[in-house]
Amino acid sequence: MAAPGKGLEGVVAAETAISDIDGKEGVLSYVGYDIHDLAPNATFEETCYLLHNLELPTEQQLDEIKEQLGREREPNDFVMDLMPQLAQNTAPMSMLRTACSASSANDPDGWDTSEEANYRKAMRLIAVFPTLVAYYDRLRNDQPLVRPDSGLSLAANFLYMLKGDKADDAEARIFDICLTLHADHTMNASTFAARVCAATLSDIHSAVTAGIAALKGPLHGGANEQVMRMIKEIRNLGGAGKARDYTIDKLRNKVKVMGFGHRVYKTEDPRATHLRRMAKELAEKSGDGSNYEISQEIERAVMDEKGIYPNVDFYAASVYGYLRIPTDLFTPVFACSRVSGWTAHVREQYADNRLIRPDHAYVGPERRSWKALSQR
Ligand code: SDX
Repeated sequence: MAAPGKGLEGVVAAETAISDIDGKEGVLSYVGYDIHDLAPNATFEETCYLLHNLELPTEQQLDEIKEQLGREREPNDFVMDLMPQLAQNTAPMSMLRTACSASSANDPDGWDTSEEANYRKAMRLIAVFPTLVAYYDRLRNDQPLVRPDSGLSLAANFLYMLKGDKADDAEARIFDICLTLHADHTMNASTFAARVCAATLSDIHSAVTAGIAALKGPLHGGANEQVMRMIKEIRNLGGAGKARDYTIDKLRNKVKVMGFGHRVYKTEDPRATHLRRMAKELAEKSGDGSNYEISQEIERAVMDEKGIYPNVDFYAASVYGYLRIPTDLFTPVFACSRVSGWTAHVREQYADNRLIRPDHAYVGPERRSWKALSQR
């Protein structure tokens, strides 16, 4: 068991009004609205508005944010010139980290750091991320770019640009719910990274770039991709009938099973509840339940062996797989949602800022005198 406070466990790093978690009860809320109310009812555009304005939008306000997100979907020319090289030479999350940073170059608001300019920059980042991910995939597969359709929701437009045809309403709605489920999560590692950067009064693009860099790791946002690789490995071994032994073997060899466990939740991650249900729905719709069945066997084995629950990444993998999103785009898709939370937290940090600079516990050698080279 980790030493108390290691990894800042249990340390309150900042006050926030954007989201809250009760890890014991398994409750997640955005500005007071329970995720179990938001998932079935909210669109991702409503969620973006809520995180940034701390209120649900009126019909007029929702129309305005949909129009604003709809018109800002194309990357600027500087970024577009980079995309072919990024598509051929970089991994997806490296592309996103680079393209996010590069998109500050020609931002219409330049280096204006006013509250109004930062809100516009936040909307531009939320709008452009799905296009960057879809263009990256089209370019690396030598497929023609599918330009954004401003008439589609952010969720439906991503699936359209990625696949080249309009997703059916059920799939588009499931992906829309995934975006709301992944949008924010209090002081997770990538949001904290973004806030630390913002607290130095660095710019919003730099802070979001820091968030992307942190999300990339397999202990954080990178887990969903690892989950799908595990599912594929089990499929190759023979499918659901092999899942239990495979999982128990990993656990008994002290290998972490990706998609399980959480620093805060000590019961089911409420997001997993919705993702499990949607994975089941998509499995039935597709007529191929194997990924879902394998997931269920893994879940049962981890619970029986370690009493650990699935987190947001576990069933997200099956959902994205059934939506025919390439496995190495799972984490970039997470970023397409979490950029809404990152930018909301960055603006909240700017609004009531103090440099984030924690203390340390020194465990190195006692103070000692200099030794000349000849004496070492
Ligand atoms: C996300 O923080 C957030 O909010 C993140 C996130 C968000 O929305 O932003 O929720 C998104 O990042 C979800 C987590 C995705 N990562 C994974 O699925 C990777 C696998 N999970 C583990 O690495 C782990 O559970 C963490 C990193 C998520 C949490 O790690 P902690 O709190 O540091 O827990 P730990 O590593 O100290 O483990 C505590 C115990 C240990 O057992 P003992 O050694 O005490 O016997 O639980 C065990 C661990 O071995 N354990 C696991 C496990 N996770 C914890 N054992 C096997 N498989 C696992 N996945």
